Amino acid sequence: MRISDPKLIAAIVALGVEHRVGVSLAQKTSLEIGGTSDLLIIRKHETLPELIHLLKQAEMPHRFLGGGSNVLLPDGELPWVILQLARQDPEVRFEGNNVFVDCAADLGRTVTTCAKQDLGGMEGLIGVPGSIGGALRMNAGAYGTQIGTYVREVQVYRAATGRIEILRGSEINFEYRHTSFALDDIMLSVRLELPSKPYSEILQGIRICNEKRRASQPLNQKSAGCIFKNPPGGSAGRMIDELGLKGHSVGDARVSDRHANFFINAGHASAADMLALIADVRERVRERYGVELEEEVIVWKAQ
Ligand code: EPU
Repeated sequence: MRISDPKLIAAIVALGVEHRVGVSLAQKTSLEIGGTSDLLIIRKHETLPELIHLLKQAEMPHRFLGGGSNVLLPDGELPWVILQLARQDPEVRFEGNNVFVDCAADLGRTVTTCAKQDLGGMEGLIGVPGSIGGALRMNAGAYGTQIGTYVREVQVYRAATGRIEILRGSEINFEYRHTSFALDDIMLSVRLELPSKPYSEILQGIRICNEKRRASQPLNQKSAGCIFKNPPGGSAGRMIDELGLKGHSVGDARVSDRHANFFINAGHASAADMLALIADVRERVRERYGVELEEEVIVWKAQ
């Protein structure tokens, strides 16, 4: 969606928010799928309430995009103005075992920055792509670790109140790839409490996780990680594999040959290709196993 009202643009820019016109959002996602829209880059968190107030007043639908690694955007001109946080400097600040992290920071880089301070616990998350904010929203997890375990406080913009608030870790439910954050909450920063561990030990854990991941996941391809959640007690990847669907494709959207729950963009896949592949695989799994797979990737639907 384009912002064309010069008064609105002037008010947005006066807040110190950067207005980029007609951005190709495929470049902002790990799947490299998505159409175009105006993008607003927020440099100072405290300007968010006023920015969103302005957009609401102007009746401009808007959506917030995080690291773009677990999302499938629609094709064409998007019906929303897109908001994104600029990275803060510094991204990470330490106070003993407490770590204050900017939500636009990269998850993997944060894990290694903490490791250098002899703070561990998050080794399993090392290869999970995306930002800290995205990891919080989805309660990112791998190899027995989930980020929610270490969360003590989160600073969020709450659309419900139009204010920036601090939530205590104990007030937030962290479940398997699901949290109690509202859909329109925007995570700004987090305080994690991490256990002390020698750097060498953390590094060893990181190496093991990296090896496991390299062996089983298509890391150098355009994907959004696992496309479906695992059903209770089951494995989406194993079921899709057993159905012989590795390499199955719709256009350039393809089930990975390496891990059947990773759907990759093998060229110039459209959102329509990827959605058709998701629907097809879901249908086949339903037919064979009687299991209704739920998407793990967040699909933005243009109504
Ligand atoms: N399997 C197959 N064929 C495949 C893929 C997997 O037979 O093509 C089998 C494996 O051999 C294994 C079982 O299925 O016995 C489970 O596979 P894996 O260990 O690879 O883990 P997963 O359950 O498929 C989950 C997370 C991953 C996370 C890994 C490692 C979900 C949906 N997936 O995958 O997270 O990296 O465990 O902890 O929870 C993500 O969230 O995007 C993601 C990739």
